Amino acid sequence: MKIGVFDSGLGGLVITRAFVEALPKYDYVYYGDTARLPYGEKTSGQILSYTIEAVKFLIAQNCGLIIIACNTATSIALRYLQQRFIPSFSPDTKVLGVVIPTVEEAAAGNAARVGVLATNATVRSHIYQTELQKINPAAEVFETAAPALVPAIEANDFAAAEKAAAEYVRAFDNIDSLILGCTHYPLLKTTFRRLVSEKTRVVSQDELMGAKLRNYLERHIEIDITLSRDGSLKAIVSRLNDHYNEVAGRLFPGIVLEEKN
Ligand code: DGL
Repeated sequence: MKIGVFDSGLGGLVITRAFVEALPKYDYVYYGDTARLPYGEKTSGQILSYTIEAVKFLIAQNCGLIIIACNTATSIALRYLQQRFIPSFSPDTKVLGVVIPTVEEAAAGNAARVGVLATNATVRSHIYQTELQKINPAAEVFETAAPALVPAIEANDFAAAEKAAAEYVRAFDNIDSLILGCTHYPLLKTTFRRLVSEKTRVVSQDELMGAKLRNYLERHIEIDITLSRDGSLKAIVSRLNDHYNEVAGRLFPGIVLEEKN
């Protein structure tokens, strides 16, 4: 069995890179739903049905462990997938998301006043607030939607992205942690670290997900032994064009995309 990684588009390649760097021997299948991104602006019903479709596709690609790298899909669909869909459709498959590992990482740094930047749909779900307060009920969590960032990063317009980032950060007052709750934001982590005060810890998923996956596999030997290790990576997208090839090359140099048929 392989490790599947799903994202609404290409941002999840940043997380896939972290997995491949931390655990290069495993076999990965990446699936990005480029035909329908951005998920951050979709309804919860759309996000749920698209994510179920993507998970079915990765199961058909022989993935026994699937990581939903998309914060938006994790926020809206993960609980349903784990509790309802997977137990009847494919009980041996494991599906994980990115929110819990991120929240654990933030909480390990004693997060008490936390800023979260994410898509509109993720913010609407309040998943970061809910999960952070499960660990620390006294935590104050300020979730802010940052819809201008994904389009600017995809367009390679970092001047616009940095300008928008500076505006968004202004919404936070005296926070000790800033969670970058979206696949694309790790590409702006240096900017965010420059924008926030020295005492604010910027939690960036590319820096934590590799170690979290390794730790998960160490704790779940029964899953680890089912995973093949030929060091392969297949990256499939629902729509392929020159623009997506160019974006993918920036996020994961050398990656070769193929279109789903
Ligand atoms: N992948 C999405 C996320 O991490 C961002 C892009 C989108 O809105 O589809 O939330």
